[in-house]
Amino acid sequence: MTMRSIRQADVEGKRILMRVDFNVEFDDGFPKETYKINSVRDTIDFLLSKKGVKIALLSHVGRPEGEKMEGLSFKNFFGEIGKVLDKKLIFVDDCVGDKVKDGLDILRSGRILILENVRFHVEEFENNIDFAGELAKNFDIYVNEAFSVSHRPHASLVKITEILPSFCGLHVEQEVERLSKIRENPERPSVAIIGGAKIETKFPMIKFFADSYDSVLVGGRLGIEAKNKGIVFPDNVIVPKDYIDGSLDVGPETVSLFKEKIRKSKTIIWNGPLGKFEDTRYARGTSEVLDAIVANKLAYKVAGGGETIQVIEEKGVIKKFDFVSTGGGAMLVFLAKGTLVALEALQNQK
Ligand code: 3PG
Repeated sequence: MTMRSIRQADVEGKRILMRVDFNVEFDDGFPKETYKINSVRDTIDFLLSKKGVKIALLSHVGRPEGEKMEGLSFKNFFGEIGKVLDKKLIFVDDCVGDKVKDGLDILRSGRILILENVRFHVEEFENNIDFAGELAKNFDIYVNEAFSVSHRPHASLVKITEILPSFCGLHVEQEVERLSKIRENPERPSVAIIGGAKIETKFPMIKFFADSYDSVLVGGRLGIEAKNKGIVFPDNVIVPKDYIDGSLDVGPETVSLFKEKIRKSKTIIWNGPLGKFEDTRYARGTSEVLDAIVANKLAYKVAGGGETIQVIEEKGVIKKFDFVSTGGGAMLVFLAKGTLVALEALQNQK
């Protein structure tokens, strides 16, 4: 997959609209995980190192679906986001129109604009070309540094690339390179561990890994959901053998079976907790499996998805992974299809 990297752009003196994904859970204004926010840092630093660059960050948070909801305004979050990034952010209470232009006109060197939640405009969801034009109006260049939402055909991700010269950010570039590597050429034996719920969403990924990996370990509620739906997996897909309290966690027999597979693997990919990990009574399966992954020092290890990142951050083992993807849904789609709609849009650049 070849996309133009921001490294190839002539950015000096330019106004840059940077689509990011700050859609993380906030608790009283504080982000519950910071990995996704931090993932945009290298691109910001790269751009700020060039003369005369002005940056505006554009993101969504939640699903307001066109309604202006005070609780989902970035005015509540930009202070903490700025602290995580160690940057002075200036909030603009819309993402289109004169307020954006005025904000850019007076923006001082080293400071960055953060625009209002793009999902306050229903046209965003409609991938509306006129709205994309409004977003683009005050800018010279567009950067997609939002891998985790790049599976959505939305105006700020897709249509906008038809208007502005468009590039991918440094983290998006890394996501594509690392995820393509485990998709196309995993060192064997290879294992995919897939937890969480929603069998409909995860089924394509289980199917993809069943075809291309040596084993797939299915945890969480997925095993039960698949059984209830009458889904029969191929022999290399291992579903839980036992559970704790219904299906709130995987049981000891399952954990030791999973650990044995993990111990012998040279490529490990993990998405989704194996039980209701936020309740300490049911965190054991997830925790033991994570310990087993980390203990395998020789394997190439990749993890991704919001809850998975939260577990890894809480245990302080993010650095033990070769790569952590910001994407939950986006990572699954990328692994199953090898591309995402907003990345395709970046490829179509002349
Ligand atoms: C995510 O957190 O997975 C992305 O921001 C996408 O959010 P969405 O599922 O609301 O489109």
